[in-house]
Amino acid sequence: ELQWSLLRRGEFSQVNGIILQKKVCDCWDKIWNFQAKPDDLLIASYPKAGTTWTQEIVDLIQNDGDIEKSRRAPIQLRQPFLEYTNMTYWGINEANVMPSPRTLKTHLPVQLLPPSFWEENCKIIYVARNPKDNLVSYYHFQRMNKLLPDPGSWDEYFQTVLAGNVVWGSWFDHVKGWWKKKDSHSILYIFYEDIMKDPKCEIRKIMEFLGKNLKEEVLDKIVYNTSFDIMKKNPTTNYLNEITMNHKISPFLRKGIIGDWKNQFTEAQNKQFNEYYEKNMADTSLSFCMEP
Ligand code: A3P
Repeated sequence: ELQWSLLRRGEFSQVNGIILQKKVCDCWDKIWNFQAKPDDLLIASYPKAGTTWTQEIVDLIQNDGDIEKSRRAPIQLRQPFLEYTNMTYWGINEANVMPSPRTLKTHLPVQLLPPSFWEENCKIIYVARNPKDNLVSYYHFQRMNKLLPDPGSWDEYFQTVLAGNVVWGSWFDHVKGWWKKKDSHSILYIFYEDIMKDPKCEIRKIMEFLGKNLKEEVLDKIVYNTSFDIMKKNPTTNYLNEITMNHKISPFLRKGIIGDWKNQFTEAQNKQFNEYYEKNMADTSLSFCMEP
């Protein structure tokens, strides 16, 4: 904790108008020129949409539900974070040398994904979460994670979000961009709320997308081992040993529910956000469930 309090917040810059960590911008050429392989699997998301949850589900499916195998290492050292470099996580350097088949994670908006993923026709799973819960989760994550900007007060953060000044760009552009891409590429687009409401159904969808065929009892085991309570206790999925994170301020697996935004948004903010949402979602067929 002392170490955390002494750490400085990261620095930020932009690539094509998208705010990213400076370390990411500094090696942008290397990221943009990343060479994907046809059997790579990419898990893409806006930050705090349920990435880790999806990562753990995928890893368990790939390992036929074997928890010993899935707990071989912390999740941030199993599936490289594509655009990360010089951090404690595995990033592009580890991805470049790891044996295939590789599973990678990214938060890049669709227009910034290295073109080789499209050229090699890689399978991609995109997970999206309703914007209100997503932003509340992001707010608390920025409070506890020194790799991201200090969000200030919730009221300040709310304005920052509406102005689109968030790392990895606007939630709206992110979810809409990936949604559109799904018409021309093999993307399984899933929702946090659906996994919450019927985990087995969504896990089966992912299994089929990966071309696997697991027994019912294995699926049940994966449902159990990817529940919020189990993942919170699992040292390979709770990010407890990341020095940039202070879980006393807000734990990584914080609440894991639908509708926590009701505890955070004021009535006026909710009204303002609803109007903003209507305006920004008018040009898409994509829609979200925000109610538990
Ligand atoms: P909250 O802050 O709302 O609790 P990401 O992995 O993309 O950073 O997303 C983190 C969010 O997903 C956090 O949301 C976290 O609690 C939630 N989450 C992680 N694992 C989960 C699980 N097994 N069930 C429900 N929510 C989960």
